Amino acid sequence: MTGSRDIFRNIRQPMSSKRIRVAVLYGGRSGEHEVSLQSAASVIRNLDPERFTIIPIGIDRDGGWHLNDLAMMADGAAKSLPVFRDAPPVMLPPFSGDGERSLLRLGPGGEAQGIDVVFPVMHGPLCEDGAIQGLCELADVPYVGPGVLASAVGMDKDVAKRLVAADGLPIVPYLSLKRDRWDRERGADAGAGLAGWVAENLGYPAFVKPANMGSSVGIHKVSSAAELGRALDDAFRYDVKVLIERGVDAREIELAVLENIASSDEPLVSIPGEIAPSHEFYSYEAKYLDEHGAALMIPAALDPAETERAQSMARRIFSALECEGMARVDLFLDRKSGEFYFNEINTIPGFTTISMYPKLWEASGIGYRELLSRLIDLALARHERKRGLSREWLAE
Ligand SMILES: Nc1ncnc2c1ncn2[C@@H]1O[C@H](COP(=O)(O)OP(=O)(O)O)[C@@H](O)[C@H]1O
Ligand SMILES: [Mg+2]
Repeated sequence: MTGSRDIFRNIRQPMSSKRIRVAVLYGGRSGEHEVSLQSAASVIRNLDPERFTIIPIGIDRDGGWHLNDLAMMADGAAKSLPVFRDAPPVMLPPFSGDGERSLLRLGPGGEAQGIDVVFPVMHGPLCEDGAIQGLCELADVPYVGPGVLASAVGMDKDVAKRLVAADGLPIVPYLSLKRDRWDRERGADAGAGLAGWVAENLGYPAFVKPANMGSSVGIHKVSSAAELGRALDDAFRYDVKVLIERGVDAREIELAVLENIASSDEPLVSIPGEIAPSHEFYSYEAKYLDEHGAALMIPAALDPAETERAQSMARRIFSALECEGMARVDLFLDRKSGEFYFNEINTIPGFTTISMYPKLWEASGIGYRELLSRLIDLALARHERKRGLSREWLAE
């Protein structure tokens, strides 16, 4: 395959122990496994070889961790990093560091390898929702991106909206529904009561979406009461909590946020970008199956006042959700009222070279390589900040 052997041609793996050892986690047990393989290929290709030694760890769809090596990967397709399931199994045990570095273990009782920082390049539940972040906390290893709290909150569209609304920012009206309630409603009157409530309080079209998901998996645009039950049944295949939202006729505006290296300073916010889906909405098909599924515009065509409003909202949302490191904030701009609404936040946004997050930074003056370096510096700085904290009661 043309160029496939070249993918890591420019990556020299320096031997010096001064280089920061970055464990790049990719793949993962989530519906966004494939996207992660593409994000990881770009991240690995763009990490500064002068500063970093890369330790690629592929997580297969069953959750198994494998210590891949770049030489094996040189046979992979250029745009996507494969997870080699026959590569040695590896684990990140609770704190077992040597005082300086956290250690990866090659199998139970196996050989250990030091790592300085974890870069989780994975999306969706179990990858982006605080689970991996919690594992890194237990292992006492710095990691890129928001901490456990913001990762979990950012994944849960219901809780994220509640916190953003509590900060006084606009959200689209919605109902959050648990599965046992839906089971009861469906049993009682085939969901007619709920459909009526939606008609009265939200109106149609409405959007039905699993609370914890991504990539538009399980999302439905529901045009009438008759379609509601089927949409809910499908969404409940993915989560035990589902949102029913008022559908808005809106432009989709996205902003990249990056923590300031002086953590007391305001986070940096990129110029806004826009996604214009050519489908009914920005569905899974539009995102991944149709290469003309959406146009991406950077910058978004907004006037200076709108740009300023969007940026200030993104900054506030990042802080309201206790984010650290990075996040992509997605807003709706109502075509009729001109009002911005918070839609969702992505704490590990897509990282392919054509993804919105790195492209927004590139257009705002921070190139891809520089962005990756900053993210790792931020992870190390946060770990350092927390290191001095006592875990025990101290006499004053
Ligand atoms: N309330 C809504 N009104 C209009 N369109 C919506 C609404 N909610 C979601 N959508 C459409 O569905 C897409 C995916 O929804 P989103 O909440 O961003 O979930 P995901 O995390 O899967 O990206 C959006 O990009 C948008 O096109
Ligand atoms: Mg989205």
